[in-house]
Amino acid sequence: MNKDLKAAVDKIVELFQVDEKLLKSATNLFTESMKTGLSNASGGREYMPMIPAFVTELPTGKETGTFLAGDLGGTNFRVCSVKLNGDHTFELKQSKYKIPVDLMENSTGDKLFAHLSSKVEAFLKENELRKDANETLKMGFTFSFPVDQTALNKGKLIRWTKGYDLKDVVGKDVVELFQASVDKLNLNVSIVALANDTVGTLLSRAFSNDPSKTNSNTVVGCIFGTGTNGAYLDKVSNIPKLKGTDYNKNVKSMVINTEWGSFDNTLQVLPNTKYDKIVDASTANTGYHLFEKRISGMFLGEILRVALIDLFERGLIFQDLFKERGGSLPHRVQQPWLLDASVLSYLEIDDSTELRMSALLMQNELRLPTTHEERLAIQGLTHAISSRAAQLSAIPIAAIVKHVKEQYADDDRDFEIGCDGSVVEFYPGFQAQILKAIKVIDPLEGEKKQIHLKIAKDGSGVGAALCASVA
Ligand code: BGC
Repeated sequence: MNKDLKAAVDKIVELFQVDEKLLKSATNLFTESMKTGLSNASGGREYMPMIPAFVTELPTGKETGTFLAGDLGGTNFRVCSVKLNGDHTFELKQSKYKIPVDLMENSTGDKLFAHLSSKVEAFLKENELRKDANETLKMGFTFSFPVDQTALNKGKLIRWTKGYDLKDVVGKDVVELFQASVDKLNLNVSIVALANDTVGTLLSRAFSNDPSKTNSNTVVGCIFGTGTNGAYLDKVSNIPKLKGTDYNKNVKSMVINTEWGSFDNTLQVLPNTKYDKIVDASTANTGYHLFEKRISGMFLGEILRVALIDLFERGLIFQDLFKERGGSLPHRVQQPWLLDASVLSYLEIDDSTELRMSALLMQNELRLPTTHEERLAIQGLTHAISSRAAQLSAIPIAAIVKHVKEQYADDDRDFEIGCDGSVVEFYPGFQAQILKAIKVIDPLEGEKKQIHLKIAKDGSGVGAALCASVA
């Protein structure tokens, strides 16, 4: 690599370094922010929403019955039928439908929910689930956005994330909206539970986990995919904001959807490079979910793209290409949000001669011809961006483990973290880096227990069915 480019890349890489001091102080701030969120209304920007999910215990694995689940997570809507077998196993039928981009923004809630209902109708037909027209099917609705939940089947959207922006839905009860559009099609489906995908993941992993075999208790459900977030079970006595709400006063515990994507929106500890600022400014929810914007799949590619544009503007890469093209760069490099995190996962592990596999990828994805030294720069930046993301991901897990560990003081089983999402499942080395950073933070402070990450595939759909089963 030429000297100037190397120096510039090294400097950027340094900005993305995460050290022990940052990990530990961020974990402490996270703990504080959990407490503030548990005491205050869920809508503020300065602390995490910490939303009570109105699920009051974790499944035992013995649950039975067949339920529908509708799962709106980000880019896709999934409809599932889940049969819980009562022995930690389930059978799942599901169909996945891509959400048309023009329904995500500059559209209306009516149109979005009409689309979702039509997919429920199609699923019922395909799977011949509508045999008895008089029988109402119970559905759990996984809606993976911050919602101010006031009952198991009630919740108003606080704000959109992950590229959605349908203004008329904010502040409305999403179960009412979905139910109204399902009813228009006479589907005889009753939406009995509303769950965040992390709540679903927690429940589904707790259902599948048989502690007598794994020697672990499931303590967190989390997503590292298009977005990121986590849920856990807390003691009611730790949740002052429940006072004054309508919950069964006999229950001792409650699942909390942390909405940790909004951790440190005021940037007290999180790194804030100029690339993070550019990316945040180009989102619909500027100033919010700043933790998510450093970690999750939707943002990793965009951070890389803006860093490359910066190096170009400083005259350090793509200069010959620019001249050859008569003074322009390929259109796709200049277009935000086109570089998917899955592409970064290939760049990351390319060990081909002169990084030829990366050359093909850049050509295919961005129509961008590159030189070997440009590809070395791209790989170095990719590594820095993903590695920061994985290490920061350890912070909420460690903080929650610290927060709940006294609840398990008399139980010497290990802790397991149920995870779902493309980044944690597929990004090379992501899980290993999270675990390494958790070790650095050391939330169990010398206890013998271990912390394991367990992939809870399809967790959100199965979890929604589990929520429907207790309704
Ligand atoms: C949403 C969460 C969700 C997470 C993962 C975030 O953008 O705010 O509700 O759980 O993405 O899907």
